[in-house]
Amino acid sequence: MKMNIKKILKELTLEEKASLCSGADFWHTKAVERLAIPQIMVSDGPHGLRKNDEDSANPQEAIKAVCFPTASALACSFDRNLLTAMGKALGEECQAEKVSVILGPGCNIKRSPLCGRNFEYFSEDPYLASEMAAAQIKGVQSKGVGTSLKHFAANNQETRRMTVNERIDERTLREIYLAAFEGAVKQASPWTVMCSYNRINGYHSSQNKWLLTDVLRNDWGYDGLVMSDWGAVDDRVEGIKAGLDLEMPASFGKNDKMIVDSVNNGKLNMKALDKCVERVLKLVDKAEDSRNTCEWDMEAHHELAAKIAEQCAVLLKNDDDILPLNKEEKICFIGEFADKPRYQGGGSSHINSFKVTSALEAAKDFCKVEYAQGYITTEDKTDPKLLEQAVECAKYNDKVVIFAGLPESFESEGFDRSHMRMPECQLELIREVSKVNKNIVVVLHNGSPVELPFFDDIKGLLEVYLGGQAIGKAACDLLFGKAVPSGKLAESWCMKLEDNPSYLNFPGVGDEINYSEGIFVGYRYYDKKKMEVRFPFGYGLSYTQFEYSDLVISENEISDDQTLTVSCNITNKGKMTGMEVVQLYVGDKESSVSRPVKELKGFEKVSLRPGETKKVFFSLDKRAFAYYETAINDWFVEYGEFEIMIGSSSRDIRLSGSVYVNSKSKLPVQFTFNSTVGDVLSCSEGREVFGGFIEKICCSMFDSAVSGIGMDMAMAMIREAPLRGIITNDSRPEINRVWLQEMLDKLNAMLEE
Ligand code: BGC
Repeated sequence: MKMNIKKILKELTLEEKASLCSGADFWHTKAVERLAIPQIMVSDGPHGLRKNDEDSANPQEAIKAVCFPTASALACSFDRNLLTAMGKALGEECQAEKVSVILGPGCNIKRSPLCGRNFEYFSEDPYLASEMAAAQIKGVQSKGVGTSLKHFAANNQETRRMTVNERIDERTLREIYLAAFEGAVKQASPWTVMCSYNRINGYHSSQNKWLLTDVLRNDWGYDGLVMSDWGAVDDRVEGIKAGLDLEMPASFGKNDKMIVDSVNNGKLNMKALDKCVERVLKLVDKAEDSRNTCEWDMEAHHELAAKIAEQCAVLLKNDDDILPLNKEEKICFIGEFADKPRYQGGGSSHINSFKVTSALEAAKDFCKVEYAQGYITTEDKTDPKLLEQAVECAKYNDKVVIFAGLPESFESEGFDRSHMRMPECQLELIREVSKVNKNIVVVLHNGSPVELPFFDDIKGLLEVYLGGQAIGKAACDLLFGKAVPSGKLAESWCMKLEDNPSYLNFPGVGDEINYSEGIFVGYRYYDKKKMEVRFPFGYGLSYTQFEYSDLVISENEISDDQTLTVSCNITNKGKMTGMEVVQLYVGDKESSVSRPVKELKGFEKVSLRPGETKKVFFSLDKRAFAYYETAINDWFVEYGEFEIMIGSSSRDIRLSGSVYVNSKSKLPVQFTFNSTVGDVLSCSEGREVFGGFIEKICCSMFDSAVSGIGMDMAMAMIREAPLRGIITNDSRPEINRVWLQEMLDKLNAMLEE
C-alpha cells in the first residue's frame, strides 16, 4: 500500500470526497491532484479488451484487441484452467494498455433463452456460472488487474432493464440468482462488483442496502468496491447509504452536489460517505501498486482464442459418424457465416478484433472446399440466386457443411428476442439443400438456443455459440478431426419456447415481473416436470467413447459439518484421445420443501488417451446438500438420504449411490393453537407429547360425526385440522384451552432444548 488512506480521509474536503464517488468521464475515476490521488481507467470486458478514449463509448472506435469466445461458449468448456488462461491473457492486455479494471465477467443466470444478453452470461446453473466466473477472475487478477463481477444481481432480461421490478422470493434469490455471484466472490475476491440496472423487490440494485451491504459484504465477507452499471444510479444519496461506492460514468457534478447538500443538511451521515470514499481510495491504491509494464503478443492471444474455442464447441448430433470429415471426399461449405463468422454479440462487449479467422480460410490447411454464400444476413429474405447456387453446389459434393445461426440483428445487448427461431431464409436454405444431399452438417453460431425444425434432416450438428475471432480455425480443426469435441451444454435446450419455465412471465407486464417459477430454472424445471428437451444440460458428444466405473462414496452417513469424498474411474474406450466432462449431481431423496430432482455440485474435465483410465475426485460439503431456509436465514440440510449421481450429462447418469446427511442445526419450530395436527405428528417430540391422544379424539370424533369412514381416512382428514379443533371436538371438560396451552408449552420447551 502506497497511500496513507486514513490520513488522506482526514485531509479531503467534503466536496472532494463527494467527487471521488463518481467517474470523471466514461472510463476514469477522478483524481485529486492536491493530495496526489491519481485517476484509474476501467474498460469493458468481459471476453476482450474494449478500450476507448475518455469520451467515446463507441465499440467501433476502440483499440484493436483480441476477441475471445463469449461466455455462452466459454461455459461449455466446463474447464476452469481454460478460463484462468483467458483471464491471464486479458490481464496482460490491460496492463499493457494501462487499464486497471476490466468490466466482467458477467454471471447472471440464463432464465429465459430470449434474453438478448445471454451470450455474455455463462449458464442456467449457478454452480457452473460461479466456477467459470471465479476462474476468469483469478486469471485476470493474477496479472495485477481488477475485474468487475456483473451485473449484481438478477439482470436476466434486457426489456426495460433499467426500470423493471423483479419479484423474486428470497430462497430463489439465494439458491439461483445470488449463488452464482456468491461462489465467485468468496473464491476469487473480485476487486470490484458492478450493480445491475434492474430493481429487485422494489429496490434499484444501485440503492439496495440488503443486496449491497447485508448480503454482499456482511454475509459473504466482500471487502472490495461496488460500482454502478453505466447509468444505473437512481438516487445517489440512497446509493451511498446502501453501499454503492462509485457511480459510473460521470454525472457531471450533479450527484456530487447532491451528496454534499445531503451531508450538510443532515440527510446523509459522513460516516457512510467515508466508507465509500475509503473503498474508492483502496481500489486506486491497489491498482497503482499493481501497475507494471507488460508486453503482449497479439498473435499468441489469437492462437489462445482458437484453442479455447475448440474446447467450447459442443457436438450435438453425429449420425453415421459423419464427423470428422474425410479430406479425400468432396466437401462444400455453405452459408455466409463460413466466410464471415458471427463470433461476438452486439453492445458494450463488442471488440474491435485485430483479425478474424473464418472457416473458409482455415479449411485451406486441410483440403479444397467449395463455397456458396447461400443467404444474406442484412435482412431475413431469401436471395433466389444464392439459394440456387447453394443447392447446385450441394448436389455434386459428398458432404455439405452449412454455417448458420443468428445474425446480429436477432440478438444483442439492449433488447430481448421475441422468439427462438432462426431466420426463415436460412431455414429455407437448409430445407432445399437437404432435398439434394443427405450428408449435411450444420455449424451453429448463436448466443442462445434456437428451435431446430431441420434436426431430422441433418446428420451432424456442431454448436459453436459466439466463439470469438478465431472460431473459424477451431471449427475446422474439429470438423476435420484435428481436434476432438469436448464441450457440454451449459444450458438446456427446450423443444419449443413455450416449454421454458419463464414463458408465462417473461418479460413481464409493464415494469413488473414475477419470477413465479422460483428455483425451477433450466434443468431443475425440466427434470422435475419430466419433460422432453431437445438437448439436456451437460450434453455433448465426442469422437471417442467414455466408460464410467468404480464409484466410491467415502461414507454412508455424515453430518453437515463434514466433507464427503466421491471418486470414480473414467476410461477412454474409443480410438482417439479426447476429453470428458464428468458431472456430479446431488438430489434429496425425500424432502419437506420442494427441491429439484438433481443439482450440479461438481465437475471435472479429464483428457484421456485411447485405453487410458483416470480417477476423478470430488469433495462435497454442506452446500452440496443444503437448501436456503428463510426461517433461519441460512443454508439448511434436512436430515435424510441424498442421491449422488455421476454422469456424462444431466440426463445420462452412469453411476449412482447415496449418503445420509445429518444436520448440525435445527429449525426453530414453535407450535401454536393454529398448528395443524399433521405438523405436530410429523415430529417425534410432537408424537411423544400428544401420544395416542389425537388418535383417540379422532376415533371418537368421526364415530359420532360421520358414519362409515375408515380410520385412515379419518386420520388423513384430521391431520389438516388445527389443534384448536381438538378441544372443541372433545366432549370432556378437562380438554380445554388451558389443557392445550400446557401441552403446547411442554412440547415447545422440548423443541428448544
Ligand atoms: C453495460 C455494462 C458495461 C457498461 C460499460 C453498460 O451498459 O450493461 O455491462 O460494462 O455499459 O460499457
